[in-house]
Amino acid sequence: MQASDLYQPEVRDQFIDQAHSTYTAAEHRVWDILFARQSHILRDRAHPDFFRGLAKLSLGRGGVPDFAVLSEELYALTGWEVRAVSGLVSDYAFFSYLSQRIFVSGRFIRRPEQLDYLQEPDVFHDIFGHVPMLANPIFADYMQAYGEGGLRSLEFGALHKLARLYWYTVEFGLIQTPEGLRAYGAGITSSAKESIYSLESPDATRQAFSLERILQTRYQIDSLQAGYFVIDSFEQLLNTTLNTDFGPLYRSLASAPEFEPDDVAYLSGKILLELYQIRCIVRLRHVRRKKANSFSRIINRDWHDRHLSR
Ligand code: PHE
Ligand code: CO
Repeated sequence: MQASDLYQPEVRDQFIDQAHSTYTAAEHRVWDILFARQSHILRDRAHPDFFRGLAKLSLGRGGVPDFAVLSEELYALTGWEVRAVSGLVSDYAFFSYLSQRIFVSGRFIRRPEQLDYLQEPDVFHDIFGHVPMLANPIFADYMQAYGEGGLRSLEFGALHKLARLYWYTVEFGLIQTPEGLRAYGAGITSSAKESIYSLESPDATRQAFSLERILQTRYQIDSLQAGYFVIDSFEQLLNTTLNTDFGPLYRSLASAPEFEPDDVAYLSGKILLELYQIRCIVRLRHVRRKKANSFSRIINRDWHDRHLSR
């Protein structure tokens, strides 16, 4: 069955005009303040490709970027475009846009008194956070593949699982580099607090990337994350997700245990599997979790290496 048999996509007409000329001076100033602050905080914290994207797309030329200009520049680099939407679009539309290399963004910007926290993503989160990474060809392909995978997840009723992959990579992903741990997720790079906390707080766990683990890990939307997943490279992210058929995974994971964000798999896979079974049998709600106490330690690597790098 095709996704299109199930959903009535009204895809094209959800775009709105960004109306770039109607932003006020105060609104442009909010962008500039956030831009300056994040550029400073993210030094040695964001992945170098994030900065490359910022520079290539001239996102710091001053004021809220004009999506028409930005799209033209981004299209020339990786074939992606940015379009404004008024608020939430349906899951189907969101995935379908991604699969067509269209990134949808809010046009509104937070008020000066909301610099630090807001519930809904605004144009600063969407553009400053997400768009620089779309200038990286590997990440650009990953986002498109994710959109295609998203459409497919709807057919399996597995949207909530695939959403976790977006959350723990596109929004809150960390990456290991020769210079140390860096952030690439937009939820991190657009947030002053999370930029520091995600990399440096001893209260957060940081596990090596594992697709299956991520699909089973819940997330919180209203606070700093309790746990993060660390990729080795963008190639790893693209290849692992592209080369895995999620269909059987959705089926087998449907009855497998789920995890809290700061539960970490610190034992070898075999012992872990036995633990799962014991946990199911005695219906133990929480196997005591072991938190990372040194800030750049990545747990779960052993488990990942043995079981997921085929
Ligand atoms: N290979 C995935 C599938 O079979 C598609 C996908 C690619 C999903 C990239 C997420 C990210 O569904
Ligand atoms: Co986002």
